[in-house]
Amino acid sequence: MTVSITVQEPAQLGGSASILMRQRRDHARLDALMNRWQAGGVTDDELDALWQDIVQLVFSHAFAEETVLWPVLRRTEADGEELTGRVEAEHQAINDLIAQVGKSPDDPRRTEWIQQAFALIREDIRDEEDELLPRLRERFGDRRLRRIGAAWEAVRATAPTRPHPGVPRRPPGNALRGVPLSVFDRLRDLAPGSGPAARRAALVVCGAAGVAGAAALMIRAARRPEHARGRHPRRPTCA
Ligand SMILES: [Fe+2]
Ligand SMILES: [Fe+2]
Repeated sequence: MTVSITVQEPAQLGGSASILMRQRRDHARLDALMNRWQAGGVTDDELDALWQDIVQLVFSHAFAEETVLWPVLRRTEADGEELTGRVEAEHQAINDLIAQVGKSPDDPRRTEWIQQAFALIREDIRDEEDELLPRLRERFGDRRLRRIGAAWEAVRATAPTRPHPGVPRRPPGNALRGVPLSVFDRLRDLAPGSGPAARRAALVVCGAAGVAGAAALMIRAARRPEHARGRHPRRPTCA
């Protein structure tokens, strides 16, 4: 029987560097940010800053899932297509809602759209923690979970940070179209006073190269045949 990763101890999930613990930490951070936004009691500027933090985290997190995790599940699980199709649909709906919020800053329905996006994000987290991520725990040993975690983190660190409804949800299309947009997003994220622009821009360009490289490695890894747990040969790829 599948056991939600929410109720398992870190050691049962492969330790702090495993993909399961990395996912759980991000989900907890998202939940805390959404709670703070919903609690109110802050200035409009603070509310906007919170919203931007949520948006950046949501999109980089989801892009890395679609690039690194879901292709692995489609290869290893008999119902992988159905499982991943459901969370991809959730991601698309979140993407569309957040894009709508961005395009309509003065629309009176803005708060309602944001609340709908929060509800969908929470639904997505539940699906992942209760159904999809436990499958990775059942399928892979701790070492492999840490390698998948490192790959996911590498892609997430340089993934797009804004909604792009036209970008496909699956590799290789998402990586091919998402990487150039990631550079654009991160340049737009640069805020005056947040540090030397030249240094940040250089990091963005290096990071985009990292996304392309990591995505290519994951696509290749996802196409490799899967063997019994714990008997994978050491490989230069990440999962
Ligand atoms: Fe997630
Ligand atoms: Fe997700």
